[in-house]
Amino acid sequence: MNDMTHPRAKFRAMTEGTQEDWDIIAAEQKAFAPDNGARILDHLKLLAGDYGGFPVDRLTHCLQTATRAHRDGRDEEYVVMALLHDIGDTLGAFNHPDIAAAILKPFLSEENHWIVQHHGIFQGHYFFHYIGLDRDMRDQFAGHPYAAACAEFCEKYDQPAFDPDYDTLPLDFFEPMVMRLCARPKQSIYKKVMTEEPAE
Ligand SMILES: [Fe+2]
Ligand SMILES: [Fe+2]
Repeated sequence: MNDMTHPRAKFRAMTEGTQEDWDIIAAEQKAFAPDNGARILDHLKLLAGDYGGFPVDRLTHCLQTATRAHRDGRDEEYVVMALLHDIGDTLGAFNHPDIAAAILKPFLSEENHWIVQHHGIFQGHYFFHYIGLDRDMRDQFAGHPYAAACAEFCEKYDQPAFDPDYDTLPLDFFEPMVMRLCARPKQSIYKKVMTEEPAE
């Protein structure tokens, strides 16, 4: 928080930290965490208007991937994964799937996390041969328990999501899903301090 009225710890190095300092920080962090979904959505909006040569901008591609997954009956966690799978396009030009995978890791099943982490290589099946790469790079994961699910994500939702004429749902439609998912971290070493109610 930037608010000057909020209390602050007094240490100048963590070696000087006290229980009082860390009670202040823990309380601030607990208030900050629930808006994680809103901050993720703000970052996703940075993809608007960024085409990178594609027929639709990167935000539309994300929305269309999520729309296709939603209309195919996927559950909320999967749809949010689909929505955010390319959120790293702006920060991670050289490893965009890793950015989404890191942001989403606390909220996803192991399988959905694997899909988002590896979708770049699996999606490459549809274009790597046009840019001098091996379109079968994904074959290194043949036999992996989640490889078929990742290939399916790319085939059904990611690779067809560049259609300017598709009836893509707006970001508003997905916002409550993102907020709900981000309010329920499954795994985080900070989960206890951020989500537990204080003792009476
Ligand atoms: Fe991607
Ligand atoms: Fe994509």
